[in-house]
Amino acid sequence: MLQKLPFSSLLSLLFFGLLLLCGSEALSEDVPAGVRTYLVKRGHRRSLVVTEHGEISAAEISTGTKGPYHIQFFTLEPNSLLLPVLLHADMVFYVHTGNGKLSWTDGTEMKRMNLQRGDVYRLQAGSVFFVQSNQDSERQRMRIHAIFSNTDEDVYEPSIGAYSSIRDMVLGFDRKVLQAAFKVPEEVLEEITSATKPPAVVPAVTKDRKSVYWELEDRLVGILMGNKHKKTKETKTFNILDADPDFENCNGWSLTVDKHRLRSLRHSNIGIFMVNLTKGSMMGPHWNPMATEIAVVLHGHGMVRVVCPSTANESECKNVRFKVKEGDVFAVSRFHPMAQMSFNNDSFVFMGFSTSPKRNHPQFLTGKRSILRTLDRGILAVSFNVTNTTMDQLLNAQEKALILDCTSCAEEEETKMKEEIEKERQEEEARKSKEEEEKEREEEEARKKEEEKEREEEEAQKREEEEEQAKKREEEEREREAAAAKKREEEEREREREEEEAKKREEEKEREEEEAKKREEEKEREREEEETRKREEEKRQKEEERRREQEEAERERRRQEEEEKQRQEEEEQEEARRREEEKRQQEEQRQREEAARREHEEARRQEEEKAKERERREGGGEQPEEEEVEARKEDQERKGDEGIGRRTLRKVWNL
Ligand SMILES: *[C@@H]1O[C@H](CO)[C@@H](O)[C@H](O)[C@H]1NC(C)=O
Ligand SMILES: *[C@@H]1O[C@H](CO)[C@@H](O)[C@H](O)[C@H]1NC(C)=O
Ligand SMILES: *[C@@H]1O[C@H](CO)[C@@H](O)[C@H](O)[C@H]1NC(C)=O
Ligand SMILES: *[C@@H]1O[C@H](CO)[C@@H](O)[C@H](O)[C@H]1NC(C)=O
Ligand SMILES: *[C@@H]1O[C@H](CO)[C@@H](O)[C@H](O)[C@H]1NC(C)=O
Repeated sequence: MLQKLPFSSLLSLLFFGLLLLCGSEALSEDVPAGVRTYLVKRGHRRSLVVTEHGEISAAEISTGTKGPYHIQFFTLEPNSLLLPVLLHADMVFYVHTGNGKLSWTDGTEMKRMNLQRGDVYRLQAGSVFFVQSNQDSERQRMRIHAIFSNTDEDVYEPSIGAYSSIRDMVLGFDRKVLQAAFKVPEEVLEEITSATKPPAVVPAVTKDRKSVYWELEDRLVGILMGNKHKKTKETKTFNILDADPDFENCNGWSLTVDKHRLRSLRHSNIGIFMVNLTKGSMMGPHWNPMATEIAVVLHGHGMVRVVCPSTANESECKNVRFKVKEGDVFAVSRFHPMAQMSFNNDSFVFMGFSTSPKRNHPQFLTGKRSILRTLDRGILAVSFNVTNTTMDQLLNAQEKALILDCTSCAEEEETKMKEEIEKERQEEEARKSKEEEEKEREEEEARKKEEEKEREEEEAQKREEEEEQAKKREEEEREREAAAAKKREEEEREREREEEEAKKREEEKEREEEEAKKREEEKEREREEEETRKREEEKRQKEEERRREQEEAERERRRQEEEEKQRQEEEEQEEARRREEEKRQQEEQRQREEAARREHEEARRQEEEKAKERERREGGGEQPEEEEVEARKEDQERKGDEGIGRRTLRKVWNL
């Protein structure tokens, strides 16, 4: 059975295929850029299965408006088996070479049919089928070209693939479910589930020995189809190569197979066509009003010219010409006028699928059946801006239809194509070189910029470093300054401290001085006080002395006074005694003086009486004699006192 590829790998394959389709590198030099979506060269198919018994490859092809259409190429070695698969889409196929047997069922009965070269058939979506190639005497491979299409939308759905393996579908369930569902003995399921999964294409049964796979698949299909395969029904198919062509002349033939010819194509949207162009011929310019053609080259080489009917967007739709050879697939959209040409050296055979459920009548531009001949000649002449005559000449000349003689047409087309490709290549190269130049310039610029940047960065780095250094220096400076400041500060502090200390010392000194002064003062004061005290003492002493002296003096004085008094008293007593004495002496004296005086008085009165008698005799008085007498008297008295005192004192004091 055909091994179902995991969805992701299918997708990646698809993607890879598209990459191959679109990638300019992957396409050979004889493919113009404009056809890359609707031409798949044989070498650019993507491989789905490769075993020693067979291969399956696929191609997706787009017409630009629809698709992609999915085409697969099955190749079976003689006596090989393509294992059963469930079809997800309608499959219309053409047997290109070899022969074998197709077995399929739609669920009701098992059908079987022999296949040979040129056979075409359609299997409906939902069918389960398998193919076995015959043990051919020529050992020819069996080649089948198939297109897959969903009936409703005319589009193959890539996300689910074209078909899936029956085995995978069954064994996707757990054994428990399978046993309950199938109600088969344990060992059967055991055998089925534990069997190694076979590849999609395996060796077929031989006459004497059934293939293990064949047996297995037979059993599986039996399980699936409820053992109805015993009612196998032989079905006849349609063979293109056996059929009469629709058109044939010496330049070749063409044939279309639609539902009218092949009943199995009913309710399908796929038709089949085949063209054989002999050497130096051409399928005349024509368009398909209903269908898109997807053609596979079966033999030889050919040139295809496709005209874009729309002038709306030249970059999307261009007139193209391209060369195809056996195995290549190309698609042409409806309304696109085209012409296929064979080379002078070989015939050019291609078959294809037309994607329309409706009857497609290709419209030819030339020959007896030309659509232009049915149009009004004058209108046409105006359309072409030529005279009626010219128009007549244009349309009436060709008497042949459809397939025309065209010697060296393909060769000329090929030359033109090569020129175009060369031009394209040159343009491409120019573009590329320009791009490269641009790129180089950009790179140069980028490099320059990079260099610039690098330089700038370097500079920036330098600057940064410098800044860093400057910063470092600054930092150092700052640190130094800070250190200096700190030092200064410390010094300042030191100085301050010193000053403080000095001040303190000063203060101390001052204080000391003060104290000294104070002490001095104190001392001074004390001294002064002492002195004062001393002086006072002295004074006091002096005073005392003085007082003592005074007292002494007083005492002395008093003693003296006492003495004096005593003395005085004594003296007084003495005096008194003396005076007494004196008085007695004086009394005596006075009595003697009285007596002397009376004597003297008598003497003087005698003298006076004498002087008075003389005066009376002389005239005047004389007194001085009297005074002189008196003074002598007194002096005599004083001399008498002193003399008396000293004698008296000595007498008193006993001195
Ligand atoms: C195509 O035509 C040529 C010439 O008539 C013939 O030799 C060749 O077998 C034909 N090919 C097919 C596939 O019919
Ligand atoms: C033509 O088609 C190309 C590609 O799709 C697009 O880039 C371009 O803009 C279109 N030009 C016009 C005039 O529509
Ligand atoms: C016929 O001519 C074409 C174009 O020159 C060339 O590609 C091709 O190989 C030739 N075929 C044979 C069979 O010589
Ligand atoms: C061309 O032909 C049309 C009719 O076919 C006719 O009406 C018209 O006059 C002709 N014009 C010329 C220039 O002959
Ligand atoms: C037809 O062609 C001629 C010359 O070729 C030109 O002068 C004339 O304008 C064209 N007519 C129209 C309707 O374009």
